[in-house]
Amino acid sequence: MSRPAVLVARAVFPEVLAQLAQHFDVESNQADTIFSKPELIQRLQGKAGAFTTGSERIDADVLAACPQLRVVANMAVGYNNFDIPACTAAGVLATNTPDVLTETTADFGFALMMATARRMAESEHFLRRGEWTRWSYDMFAGSDVHGSTLGILGMGRIGQAIARRGALGFGMKVFYHNRSRLQTEQEAPLGARYVDKATLLSEADHLVLVLPYSASAHHAIGAAELAQMKPTATLTNIARGGIVDDAALAVALRERRIAAAGLDVFEGEPAVHPDLLTVPNVVLTPHIASSTLATRRAMADLAAQNLIAALTGGVPPTPINGELLKRA
Ligand code: GLV
Repeated sequence: MSRPAVLVARAVFPEVLAQLAQHFDVESNQADTIFSKPELIQRLQGKAGAFTTGSERIDADVLAACPQLRVVANMAVGYNNFDIPACTAAGVLATNTPDVLTETTADFGFALMMATARRMAESEHFLRRGEWTRWSYDMFAGSDVHGSTLGILGMGRIGQAIARRGALGFGMKVFYHNRSRLQTEQEAPLGARYVDKATLLSEADHLVLVLPYSASAHHAIGAAELAQMKPTATLTNIARGGIVDDAALAVALRERRIAAAGLDVFEGEPAVHPDLLTVPNVVLTPHIASSTLATRRAMADLAAQNLIAALTGGVPPTPINGELLKRA
């Protein structure tokens, strides 16, 4: 019996490729080229499965052009690169990699928030430029993290893990807004208070965005929302580009309408809005919140497990449109 063919669309750990090769004819891309849509379609011809990352968009055109495709396994928890209704309509199972990255991503979100509050990037650049010649009483005075109010927009697994760090480690008061309220027993140990978005914006000393991207989350933080924040507040985005209006944020930072921002994700990344590159009060990182070797390997392993199970009659551990499995 011939083995299914799969495409691994970006470079990945060789051990993971070897694991996939035990089950499939694997076309890999260790050169790590980013495929254009026509090239992706061409490479997917005859493939039953694809191992993807956020850089591959699987939409109705791709699905229509690749009728043999049965599963797309994203090596990411976010899956806004997939058109899920189109996948479901085409009978293509989509999977992602939740849970394995929660704590690592929360560590990074907290670190980025702290670096932002305590002006670490700005002061480091000053030191590297050779401008540190003397002590002064208010040099790079930032804002306290401990004891302040942490605002979390998007209280899923990662949001809750950040809330735990803030409440239990730093004595922060936790306010959050989410599509749905947590259970009382989830809120209680964190002292977390569910508030409307306007209250979250106006009360947070440090606002962290951890919500998934969707059309309704587009520019959830724009000029109007930034205007509701305290002038001393910080904003940290580890969610997705497009949730923040980056042009409006650059203006708010330049005019000090908020104190500072920490950004790991950007609209149109890897391009970064040029105005964000010139304002001093922002910490910029290249979408690395889940990037520890152990976690990236766990994500790759989970994506591989999903692909293997889906194409060999097993049960994929983390499906997105799992209704397809029930139908089968
Ligand atoms: C990274 O952004 C992810 O969604 O895993």
